[in-house]
Amino acid sequence: MSETQMNVNSDRDGAPADDTHPWSRMFPGGTGPAADPAGSHFERRIRSFQPRRSRVTTGQAEVLRRLWPSWGLDIDGRRVLDLDAMFDGLPVVLEIGFGMGEATARMAADDPGTGILAADVHTPGQGNLLRLAERNGLTNIRVANGDAIILLREMLAPGSLDGIRVYFPDPWPKTRHHKRRLIQPEFLTLAAPALKPGAVLHCATDWEPYAEQMLDVLSAHPAFENTAPDEGYAPRPASRPLTRFEGQGLEKGHAVRDLVFRRVAGASPTDGAPVDDSAVDGAVAG
Ligand SMILES: C[S@@+](CC[C@H](N)C(=O)[O-])C[C@H]1O[C@@H](n2cnc3c(N)ncnc32)[C@H](O)[C@@H]1O
Repeated sequence: MSETQMNVNSDRDGAPADDTHPWSRMFPGGTGPAADPAGSHFERRIRSFQPRRSRVTTGQAEVLRRLWPSWGLDIDGRRVLDLDAMFDGLPVVLEIGFGMGEATARMAADDPGTGILAADVHTPGQGNLLRLAERNGLTNIRVANGDAIILLREMLAPGSLDGIRVYFPDPWPKTRHHKRRLIQPEFLTLAAPALKPGAVLHCATDWEPYAEQMLDVLSAHPAFENTAPDEGYAPRPASRPLTRFEGQGLEKGHAVRDLVFRRVAGASPTDGAPVDDSAVDGAVAG
């Protein structure tokens, strides 16, 4: 299905289904998230996410139309964001891949003194997170639509983030898909400059081989240091709520690993790290 032919499903409240609702009719005049804001689907590179396939309910579409102009932003790669203005001077953490957003809304409610820039390509989740934010009166969330790689590469000023959260990124278990995994040296080299010295990159996964990969690449990267006393996995921080994907992993009996690494003050993010960014930015999309 093309991005302009996303389906609108029946909502829980019984609204009628329309399986051929085109994007432009769902969000007329750009009133919602753009289908492919930075044209990244046409960039010759490997992406860490699936193409848009999910169904947007009529309820989610309504919330997106109503709240997107105030609380949403497209990752279009065309401007550097003024996070101070967007979050009224709050410290800001970037969450990459919030899924349906339940954990994001929980964290925003638990810590109103921190702004959360929540990025995902998943339109139903964007609608769901905006609905949760509205329902709970949360003003410290902004929803960013699109590829977080472009956000980091083009739209964040150096040292503008107080943290990055990557909770249960797609594990891409098949060997031929490992190149799609988000946490790679090239990603860290892209992420490091956006973080303030001392800011934390917090990852979690229930996929053991990916946890090992994360530990390897994070430990080897000169811009980050492990906060865990034994240089291994971190104890689960109390501030991280159970996420939807985590719950599914736990039901399957998976162990959950947290990795909490700090941005090293003074280290150049590219020192000793690969500068060939083909894994995130140069290769043919697979
Ligand atoms: C496996 S889900 C996890 C969702 C949520 N964190 C949880 O634990 O329930 C991974 C999410 O990351 C998003 N994602 C993957 N790569 C991304 C990227 N480069 N930029 C933005 N979102 C991305 C996917 O769309 C998906 O919603």
